[in-house]
Amino acid sequence: MIAPAELASLAASGPAAALPWPLPLAGLVPLARAWELEIGFGKGRYLLARAAAEPERGFVGIEVAGEYFRAAARRAARRRLGNLVLLRGEALYLLATALPPAFAEAVHVYFPDPWPKAHHQRRRLLSPAALDLVTRALAPEGRILFATDHAGYGAEVEELLAGARGLAVRRWPGGWPGGPRTNYEAKYVAEGRPILRLELELADARARAPHPRGLAALAVAPVPAPASEPAPAAG
Ligand SMILES: C[S@@+](CC[C@H](N)C(=O)[O-])C[C@H]1O[C@@H](n2cnc3c(N)ncnc32)[C@H](O)[C@@H]1O
Repeated sequence: MIAPAELASLAASGPAAALPWPLPLAGLVPLARAWELEIGFGKGRYLLARAAAEPERGFVGIEVAGEYFRAAARRAARRRLGNLVLLRGEALYLLATALPPAFAEAVHVYFPDPWPKAHHQRRRLLSPAALDLVTRALAPEGRILFATDHAGYGAEVEELLAGARGLAVRRWPGGWPGGPRTNYEAKYVAEGRPILRLELELADARARAPHPRGLAALAVAPVPAPASEPAPAAG
């Protein structure tokens, strides 16, 4: 079943489609001087902590799991976090439709589901098309922060980024300042698992063009004319 996207914030909550799209972020959080986005926020540890610590900044979180979304929305309401807009829905769909272009100074993607089985890997969040949607959301000189404990997924993302134009990519040395950001990170750090952390910066406008691998996937083969149709006259 496809569930309609939901929105939770102090200013408005309910079906996201009840508001104009792209969402009027400035109307929902009039005091926000800049915005950040987290995709797949899980239990919301990082997003809620940042929103509480920086009330002059706006934060958008997208989470597909209704249980996590509702729990985070309840905690945000209890703490009266007026600078947080939570969305329940599919991240790529919401990036393409509900969120305005170039609004986020930073996009956070931490421990996206690795789908380790070979026949499930096409479900992984990051693909050339997904990277295009994330960079579309980034403000000039905006950054993407990414982490995974899954070596295979990390290698795939690094390869994807190596082929991207206009993005400056670096491996983040060691842990984040302030320690683990999310529940998964805290758990994996405690277990001593190696973690790949990446920082990407939108270095120039070429990053807004489609990823070269996405372009290749768009190539179409000419459709042969049906046998009964006469060939077009020459000349
Ligand atoms: C492995 S958990 C990591 C949660 C959190 N980022 C952390 O590090 O603790 C991945 C999260 O991404 C969410 N998710 C997966 N695919 C998604 C999608 N397409 N759109 C939005 N959320 C998604 C899942 O529901 C889950 O909460």
